[in-house]
Amino acid sequence: MSLAIRPAMNADGASVLDIWRKCDLTRPWNDPHKDFDRALDCESAVVLLGERGPLPVSTAMTGSDGHRGWIYYLGVLPEFRGHGFGRETLDACCDWLRQRGCPKVELMVRDGNPAAGLYERLGWDLQPVRTYARRLDEKEL
Ligand SMILES: CC(C)(COP(=O)(O)OP(=O)(O)OC[C@H]1O[C@@H](n2cnc3c(N)ncnc32)[C@H](O)[C@@H]1OP(=O)(O)O)[C@@H](O)C(=O)NCCC(=O)NCCS
Repeated sequence: MSLAIRPAMNADGASVLDIWRKCDLTRPWNDPHKDFDRALDCESAVVLLGERGPLPVSTAMTGSDGHRGWIYYLGVLPEFRGHGFGRETLDACCDWLRQRGCPKVELMVRDGNPAAGLYERLGWDLQPVRTYARRLDEKEL
């Protein structure tokens, strides 16, 4: 089995968000519709959609600052897992970044997410870093 992977378009929003939800990738503090729209509006980002025939099966979002690419929202629908689609979707993100001259890619995995096993299986290196974040869309406390 293999996937056809292509950039998502506006009309794919419902399919992509359905995969994000079924893969437990959404969080109450992020609006997934806005995340999808922002990525489609951004020249240095893309949402990829993997399909088996007419069926949406996987997604990932990727983007680059030129030097470093990031991957977010990688998900394969539960009923399609274990067939290499996660790997294919991840590879498609890396190809998208490589084609834009980006030499490095990183991603974040929440503590406790068993998906970390995928990256270890595929030879990704665990980095000795901490990630700090703050919201920019709220008033300063
Ligand atoms: C993580 C996820 C994308 C993997 O998708 P998948 O299609 O099942 O993965 P693949 O079949 O391509 O797996 C590729 C290889 O990684 C291994 N692998 C996949 N998930 C694994 C896991 N959780 N732990 C250990 N190994 C794993 C597979 O066994 C396979 O190894 P093989 O080449 O020896 O057969 C999928 O489980 C998912 O959508 N999870 C929920 C969303 C999520 O957490 N996404 C990641 C956010 S950081």
